[in-house]
Amino acid sequence: MDHSPQHSEELQYSSNDITALQTVTAYPALAPELAWERLRAVEVDRARLAENRIVTLDRTHTAYAAFDMMRTRTLQTLRNNQASTIVITSPTPKCGKTTITLNLAFSLSHQLDCRTVVLDLNLKTPRFEDVLGVAAPFSIDTVLSGATPIARALVRVGENLAIGTCHRSVEYSAELLQSREAAKVLKQMQIDLAADVILVDMPAMLGSDDVTAFLPNADCALLVAAAEDTTIPDIDACERHLAERTQLMGVILNNYRHT
Ligand SMILES: Nc1ncnc2c1ncn2[C@@H]1O[C@H](COP(=O)(O)OP(=O)(O)OP(=O)(O)O)[C@@H](O)[C@H]1O
Ligand SMILES: [Mg+2]
Repeated sequence: MDHSPQHSEELQYSSNDITALQTVTAYPALAPELAWERLRAVEVDRARLAENRIVTLDRTHTAYAAFDMMRTRTLQTLRNNQASTIVITSPTPKCGKTTITLNLAFSLSHQLDCRTVVLDLNLKTPRFEDVLGVAAPFSIDTVLSGATPIARALVRVGENLAIGTCHRSVEYSAELLQSREAAKVLKQMQIDLAADVILVDMPAMLGSDDVTAFLPNADCALLVAAAEDTTIPDIDACERHLAERTQLMGVILNNYRHT
């Protein structure tokens, strides 16, 4: 007895079915507009922003213009490369990563047709809640581990800026950052929110494996160097490391003093 035609038809059917299932899982659970509407809306503390040199929300300090230029170049690069996720790092701590990330995020939020997500993935020394004066209901590390749904942890400022904050110092954070669950959650977040830009504030690269662990989830990176503090060999080493693993969008020289 020869069942081969029927058998091959069955196989054909089942392989289509698998393809269909895989496609379905990549769709958002809700329309993006609804997903954004459901995020908890918060007000940031504008006095804290000013104290922490975040100038792009109110645009009262002239420094906002430099961030707007950075925003526009960043958007064009992302669009040209069909990319969205940018890691912001530096060779050593305190080069100004968080200051630059949040200024860039608020500058992007003025672009009303652009949806931006900004995440505090400096899981050892998170700073967003202090700088912004907001308290999110759940810490972003619990989202990466799959314990909290994305929609319950992110908060929304205005219509088009979503923020994920971290509540505590996370032990063994590199293991979480390179976990399969984290990769899955981040992909789903991008799809659910139809995010045009995802900014990821990270720790310094030298002396920790967090950035290396996370890079497979990112499309590109910005390296922040502090004028007068960061050494050229450190910049070179970090540039090489990043260029081998992702698209290095550029090096930002922060804290430069005009003489
Ligand atoms: N261009 C600047 N001019 C003056 N002060 C700055 C500038 N950029 C950042 N700072 C200040 O330097 C300090 C460190 O900045 P920030 O927290 O952004 O650095 P970081 O690289 O994120 O640090 P960490 O490695 O701890 O995450 C803050 O007090 C910030 O306000
Ligand atoms: Mg920081």
